[in-house]
Amino acid sequence: MVSLDNIQASNTALKNYGPNLVGVFVGGTSGIGESTARAFVKYAASPRVYLVGRSETRASQIIEDLRALNPDGQINFIKGDVSRLQEVDEACKEIQAKEEKINLLVLSAGILTMKGRDETDEGLDKKLSLHYYSRMRFLYNLLPQLTNAANAGTAPGQRGLSSVLSVLDARGNAPLILNDLSLKENYSLRNCANHAITMTSLSMEELAASHPATSFVHAYPGLVKTSLVRDNGSLMKLALNAMFFLLTPMNVPLEESGERHLYAGTNPSFAPRDSTRGEGVAIGSDGVQGSGSYLVGSDSATVSNQKVLEGYRADGTRASVWKHTLDIFKGIRG
Ligand SMILES: NC(=O)c1ccc[n+]([C@@H]2O[C@H](COP(=O)([O-])OP(=O)(O)OC[C@H]3O[C@@H](n4cnc5c(N)ncnc54)[C@H](OP(=O)(O)O)[C@@H]3O)[C@@H](O)[C@H]2O)c1
Repeated sequence: MVSLDNIQASNTALKNYGPNLVGVFVGGTSGIGESTARAFVKYAASPRVYLVGRSETRASQIIEDLRALNPDGQINFIKGDVSRLQEVDEACKEIQAKEEKINLLVLSAGILTMKGRDETDEGLDKKLSLHYYSRMRFLYNLLPQLTNAANAGTAPGQRGLSSVLSVLDARGNAPLILNDLSLKENYSLRNCANHAITMTSLSMEELAASHPATSFVHAYPGLVKTSLVRDNGSLMKLALNAMFFLLTPMNVPLEESGERHLYAGTNPSFAPRDSTRGEGVAIGSDGVQGSGSYLVGSDSATVSNQKVLEGYRADGTRASVWKHTLDIFKGIRG
């Protein structure tokens, strides 16, 4: 477990990257995304922030708070239903029109629903899209700006911060239904969770290999009391809130969660693949120190023993999952 003191010391050092770091928070209008954005604005010098979500009312309130927290920050809201890849593309275009580099991309848009398969008009299940395809589409679209950020260090020979963080469940990698990755025929909530989680870990490894200047982190937040239960009926909400209550001793406080996710997205131990592998650099999801993709638990330490990923790396499934993802993008967006 990384202590909160060490987390805060690391976050305080964010200022050493200099002013004008750019952070994009998809899911920044609530919960873990919002608390990570708050931590970013608190610690970074003159940051520029993009909060992506649907709720304009929430966004206005958060923007007001963040401006008070750091008057030198520039905070923007981009409205969109990002379960639709078309709206992901529109949001990315809006950001790319203003920014040449993006230092930190935090992906936490998601829902907790007990519904079965629920397709968007683009034919993807809404939950699987929010937890996997939509996040990968943001990542894929914004890779040029993430690479630019790495190349824009403030001192000669120094890399700039370039990092992607997907908040889901780094511990839960599980076997995939390989002939139905998008779960058209085999949808269940368990399969949806397994596919989103495992495909995130595999795709991040694949991207770390082809984009060695950027760090890729798949994080598990632990139990954090947020608004995640809001899209459920009142009985289900009651049950979920009761579960959170009963498990209170295990809950990670929301503000601490934001600090921990900022750490996961910015601490130099989660180094990009092409950086020097000195002491303190973490073991990557493939078991190799400093390999550029990391699985991080709620205690901010890396998660290991990922047998499922090992098999999928060896038999070529990792590459096929990324190819499948690109095929889905092509099918929907051309
Ligand atoms: N909280 C936990 O204990 C916990 C545990 C394990 C994993 N997780 C995972 O962590 C992630 C973040 O959860 P959280 O607890 O922070 O939830 P949250 O408080 O409900 O936040 C979810 C965010 O997703 C956005 N969102 C949802 N649907 C969207 C859509 N169609 N288009 C655009 N934005 C959308 C919401 O914004 P708008 O409402 O403005 O659209 C909000 O900003 C989720 O993927 C969740 O599965 C959470």
